[in-house]
Amino acid sequence: MDAEFWRQRWANNEIGFHLDGVNPKLIEHYSVLGVQPGGCVFVPLCGKSQDMLWLARQGVDVIGVELSEKAVNAFFAENQMTPDIKIFDHLERWCCDNITIYRGDFFDLIPELFEHVDAVYDRAALVALPKQMRSEYCKHLSYLVPAPLRVLLICFDYDQDKMDGPPFSVPAYEVRYHFSEVVPITPLSSENIIAENPQFKTRGLNAIEEQVYFLGYPTR
Ligand SMILES: C[S@@+](CC[C@H](N)C(=O)[O-])C[C@H]1O[C@@H](n2cnc3c(N)ncnc32)[C@H](O)[C@@H]1O
Repeated sequence: MDAEFWRQRWANNEIGFHLDGVNPKLIEHYSVLGVQPGGCVFVPLCGKSQDMLWLARQGVDVIGVELSEKAVNAFFAENQMTPDIKIFDHLERWCCDNITIYRGDFFDLIPELFEHVDAVYDRAALVALPKQMRSEYCKHLSYLVPAPLRVLLICFDYDQDKMDGPPFSVPAYEVRYHFSEVVPITPLSSENIIAENPQFKTRGLNAIEEQVYFLGYPTR
């Protein structure tokens, strides 16, 4: 899943992962992150997700990162926002009101950009990456944001032999593998979403669990 893979997905409009609305799981579980208005939430591998607008409406600063210029451009244009764009090193910083998106590679980001981040919202980011990249992603996430990590994580768990990713299956044992030595892991919900997502049936699955976790200490 290199940069070219994702650029092609966006170029061909193969963005089945994109939701027209806000993810209901974000609305349901956001409060667990304990981010106060004026705080800051990082949305890695953000695409053009409407979730960023919802987060911004909670009064927090939002920082995203996204490889695809088409996605970043679409996010601001479709939401009638005019970003200020600055280029430094190999990143572009697109910024409007309280939303900033770094256009570039997540793995090029540096902690200095994330000193004010209180929490992370990961929907379709960890599961977008193949196995060998997922460990690097988790390590880099912990390196980027100030400790202790606080993450609202949405994963899929399905029979990987029946369907190729993305999205990849990231079952509970893998979540524990990546994070159990970093922070406590609290499962929040698990739901078979196959009925509402017939595209996964077409790809060979008869069940796919959407699992939501809070990674972090219950209180600061
Ligand atoms: C499955 S999509 C999810 C997008 C978004 N989180 C959502 O919920 O709609 C994954 C996104 O990550 C982007 N991406 C993949 N690898 C990346 C990387 N290394 N750095 C930044 N963005 C990346 C892709 O272009 C794609 O838009």
